[in-house]
Amino acid sequence: MKETAEGKYRHRFHIKPPEGWLNDPNGTCYFNGQYHIFFQYSPNSPEGAGGRFWGHCVSKDLAHFTFVDTPIVTDTSWDSDGAYSGGAYTGDGILEIYYTGNVKHAGNYDYINEGRDHNVIRVDFADGIHPGPKQLILTNADYPSDLSCHVRDPKVFKEDNCFYMLLGMRSRSSKGGLLLLRSVDRLHWESAKEIYPEDDFGYMLECPDFFDIDGSTVVSFCPQGMKHETDRFQNTYESGYCLSDHKTAATDLNQLISIDGFREWDIGFDFYAPQTFKAPDGRRILIGWAGVPDSGYGNDPAIAEGWQHSLTLPREISVRNGILYTYPVKELEKRRERKVLGFGLVNKAAGEQNILGSELTGGAWDLEISTADIENGLILSLNDDLKLWKDKDRLTLGFTSDAGCRRSERRARLLNGRVERLRLVFDRSLLEIYVNLGEIVFTTRYYPSDPDRIMVFLRSVISAEGWGIV
Ligand code: FRU
Repeated sequence: MKETAEGKYRHRFHIKPPEGWLNDPNGTCYFNGQYHIFFQYSPNSPEGAGGRFWGHCVSKDLAHFTFVDTPIVTDTSWDSDGAYSGGAYTGDGILEIYYTGNVKHAGNYDYINEGRDHNVIRVDFADGIHPGPKQLILTNADYPSDLSCHVRDPKVFKEDNCFYMLLGMRSRSSKGGLLLLRSVDRLHWESAKEIYPEDDFGYMLECPDFFDIDGSTVVSFCPQGMKHETDRFQNTYESGYCLSDHKTAATDLNQLISIDGFREWDIGFDFYAPQTFKAPDGRRILIGWAGVPDSGYGNDPAIAEGWQHSLTLPREISVRNGILYTYPVKELEKRRERKVLGFGLVNKAAGEQNILGSELTGGAWDLEISTADIENGLILSLNDDLKLWKDKDRLTLGFTSDAGCRRSERRARLLNGRVERLRLVFDRSLLEIYVNLGEIVFTTRYYPSDPDRIMVFLRSVISAEGWGIV
């Protein structure tokens, strides 16, 4: 892989663009002996200008990723203004990709109800690496007439011997919804259902996903235009899921969707447009874009290095006692090497609290911490940059310096009011914080002045262990 971008904030073990811009993960799957993670890619500009293509990464172990190439570019009249997001279907022995071709017509249009095409294009990768010819599968004329031009991000799946495609959409009256289509051969599709949530999720839903896990069904989507609240929905656009406690058919998925039941995948500053896929051993894995469109905060130090954005770690989804958790796949542990922190049981008492202060070197590390629960106060800080504190059942992550590039504070509600476990994974300018084994996750870009030397301070520690990641 030719990596043109370099610099002190470049990640070591997260998927990042070789240079330029990256956004949504696409076409995630396991096929032909390896994992495939495609992504929205603009190689020519870290700000995302100059064409939106698909980059492609592969991995044998979900821990090391290799960039392959840029297999989908905008070389037809069906996708001339962007090869937008889409998914993979691998049930027939080849890797089929379905994505949105974005076309903007020249003229005086609003590009919402007029002037834009969102086509579904299929490309087969028979060997998983080389794309075959593009096939035009659907155009806006195939969608119901009450929809705006914004109908995108297809996800194809099979249920009860029928194939379904789920798309995000915006109606002509600016209500966000999902469009379900049905097919017997995955080439000819007919409309099965327009799904408009009863609750107000805003004007557009993007990047849908739908799957079963441990007897439950999950529908995932990214609403734009939701009302912000104090402890949730704090980003410009949201990304979350609704979970049922029983298996629900695709045609009934509207029954799953409510604002009360909508939980965010990640409550941090930088998370959007995730996709899931199944590992060969049956695990359901989630991977998201560690970014949010139109966020108002920046990544200036990465841009100065010639790149912007990355994908989160692959996270295993599990449902226990009706609660969904996401946690780094166990394969990451294979990359743990030297210890950067090791305290079996901390017994340095300061008042009633066990305090731990330590310098973490190497710029890429993974810490696991058990804490004694506290009612109120500081739990963790990194340098004088970033703090995590608790106020009863509210947990707040806040920047106290400009190492957040204009990021401020994000708050979450703990389900049982306690913080017992923390995991921090840091990769030079990306931090993922997993609370209580993934009950809550905060993902944020973080630009410390020296990623190789970070002071960590922990309060109420019972034990703490950490490793460098190589
Ligand atoms: C989400 C999104 C998708 C679209 C893609 C374009 O971030 O807006 O809806 O397909 O990005 O890059």
